[in-house]
Amino acid sequence: MITPVLLCGGSGTRLWPISRKSYPKQFVPLTGEKSLFTASAERLSGPDYAPPVVVTGSDFRFIVTEQLMQAGVDPGAILIEPEGRNTAPAVLAATLHVAAQDLDALILVAPSDHAISDPAAFRAAVARGVPAAQAGRIVTFGITPTHPETGYGWLELAGAAGTDPVPLTRFVEKPDAARAEAMLAAGNYLWNAGIFLFSARSMLAAFTAHAPDLLPPVRAALEQARPDLGFLRLDPGAWSKAASISIDYAVMERAGNLSVVAYDAGWNDLGGWDAVAREMGADAAGVSTAGAVTAIDCAQTLLRSDSEGVELVGIGLSNIIAVAMNDAVLVADRTRAQDVKQAVEILRAKG
Ligand code: GDD
Ligand code: MG
Repeated sequence: MITPVLLCGGSGTRLWPISRKSYPKQFVPLTGEKSLFTASAERLSGPDYAPPVVVTGSDFRFIVTEQLMQAGVDPGAILIEPEGRNTAPAVLAATLHVAAQDLDALILVAPSDHAISDPAAFRAAVARGVPAAQAGRIVTFGITPTHPETGYGWLELAGAAGTDPVPLTRFVEKPDAARAEAMLAAGNYLWNAGIFLFSARSMLAAFTAHAPDLLPPVRAALEQARPDLGFLRLDPGAWSKAASISIDYAVMERAGNLSVVAYDAGWNDLGGWDAVAREMGADAAGVSTAGAVTAIDCAQTLLRSDSEGVELVGIGLSNIIAVAMNDAVLVADRTRAQDVKQAVEILRAKG
């Protein structure tokens, strides 16, 4: 059995105006009927999976329970972070929680904001990682890189990638552009999908070796956690003493026992509107549409109305992203899709 740990703490500002602070992208149906969180919970359920541990913020606790119910998934635990401290403390808290029951339990950490187009192929890839995880390895999932992405982790392989796990020589989190170019050219690298399979025992050993300062505050936050309805509220005082750092920097870049399973059956981290458009699919002219929209002579354009009351019409557009909601409309050049993040900062400053 594998215990899924679903992380849902991100705010997804690059997908404004659909993703909002109070209702971030993982809870919204972005590319289909289901939210990404619901789809993630469903994907990691079934005979090989124990009930998931969800780590989230207080604001999202009822959305989480509602969407788990829709997915037909009973949670093992819902840990509430007093504040987001990035992924390392979140993963550690979930690992300690699982380890208290079974130190040799296998855990699959997964973001809840990705699109995985073939859930069965994904579960099969996870299953191929199990023997390595049981043997004490931390198993990553590697995606064939298509461009010099600086927003991902890169996995260096000693030899050829395979569907069975192979050892990693190095994990490089978010390289600068020059290093990303060099790794793409070198060819023996994969992107880190942000999904990790390991035994509770080996992850605790990795934290002890590489990020020991996180152990006392996170352990205390869990020991002093307050049960509240079905939730477990981590202790705010202890939690605030944990450094805010990602698992990638705290553990993965430093650990020597990493392996990778190649995974190429469809993975999209939906990091911006461009990626969402690709996931939504497009017509022959590259036009992606959703909702009440009409496109006339458009090309390489996303037109999307997420408001029942708003008709969106595009004429002669090329390389445009247009997303309409009741209270906000985004119109952007497609190559500037990542800058939506800046716009949200400006809007927040305005109040
Ligand atoms: N509970 C909780 N608390 N979840 C969090 C927190 C937190 O404080 N911070 C982030 N998360 C969740 C996000 O919601 C997301 O589902 C996941 O953890 C990963 O965090 P991101 O902030 O999205 O990480 P990233 O995209 O910059 O980088 C990671 O993912 C890439 C692939 O998408 C890294 O693992 C990279 O190496 C990887 O390539
Ligand atoms: Mg991400």
